[in-house]
Amino acid sequence: MDIVLSLYNKEKEAVSFLPHQGGFLNNLKESIKKILKHGKGIVAIYDNKLIGFIAGYEIDECFGKCKGIYTPLYAHGVRSEYPKSLYQKLYKQAADMWVKGSYTNHVITFFSHDKEIRDTWFWLGFGLRCVDAMREVRPIDVRSRDITIHKARLNDIPDMAYLEGKLTQHLNQSPLFMPRKNEEPIKNLTEWYKNKDNHLWIAYRDKKPLGYMKIEPNAETFISKHQDVMNITGGFVEPNKRKSGIGTLLLGEIQQWLKKNDYSLCGVDFESFNIVGSSFWNKYFTPYTYSVVRRIDERIGDLYG
Ligand SMILES: CC(C)(COP(=O)(O)OP(=O)(O)OC[C@H]1O[C@@H](n2cnc3c(N)ncnc32)[C@H](O)[C@@H]1OP(=O)(O)O)[C@@H](O)C(=O)NCCC(=O)NCCS
Repeated sequence: MDIVLSLYNKEKEAVSFLPHQGGFLNNLKESIKKILKHGKGIVAIYDNKLIGFIAGYEIDECFGKCKGIYTPLYAHGVRSEYPKSLYQKLYKQAADMWVKGSYTNHVITFFSHDKEIRDTWFWLGFGLRCVDAMREVRPIDVRSRDITIHKARLNDIPDMAYLEGKLTQHLNQSPLFMPRKNEEPIKNLTEWYKNKDNHLWIAYRDKKPLGYMKIEPNAETFISKHQDVMNITGGFVEPNKRKSGIGTLLLGEIQQWLKKNDYSLCGVDFESFNIVGSSFWNKYFTPYTYSVVRRIDERIGDLYG
């Protein structure tokens, strides 16, 4: 807990509006306990004191058909008084264990502003894939004469399903190549909509749905589950209507709703290689984590036997 919290507080020096740790301590403790019980990893001990650790969950299909390890934000760290090279040693040992078990795709999430850690993983062969970002809830001054935005009701589910289907297509295409399927969208959205903490807005012009954005309390990191944070978990604008401010109008509407409902922070996570998505979220949000991936040649298993 100490190691993870000191890394968190270092990130908070760069992104000062990240929430106070008091709001996620229990959640963090439970997550660490769970990974120590069910994950695979190692600790570094010096003078009977834990000075660093790394652990991950085993995943049977990790960004593809190969097995992999996911190391969340709370599952690694080195005490600040020890050199970052300890990370390299921890990874060398842990990776040996993971790869011998045929877990060849390695994914790790870390705080984005620590240049030394970023460089360490980059030099170990990892590349960026996902970003968690945050913004303070603030109004966005944007107006439109012909676009109307309304909070979706149950009878808007067919419009939501149409737009969500288009988002899935976007994720399937280059350069994202995320093999998502949109099976039973009406059933899934009806289920999603039943949760009183999930909300969605649709942008219309002349009764035609052109875009949507949705929010929910839970996202990818222990910070995103903080009670002050609400998270954007999807958004889409028709390709031929983009860059005319519709996404910003939707985000602005969400800011107003969050303010009225006493949320002070708005989070989002996105794929770094989503060119338009990255550009949009980076304009309005500040990244606080990066998730990087290393794909190891699985044929090494033939040598290990
Ligand atoms: C992300 C998205 C919803 C933004 O909607 P939009 O209506 O185009 O957004 P806006 O017109 O309000 O643009 C606001 C900013 O986003 C960025 N942006 C939007 N379109 C862009 C493009 N084609 N290329 C680069 N940047 C772009 C710019 O920073 C822009 O600010 P600027 O106009 O001052 O340059 C839309 O691009 C989209 O549907 N993308 C595909 C789906 C997707 O990626 N969804 C997010 C999933 S995580």
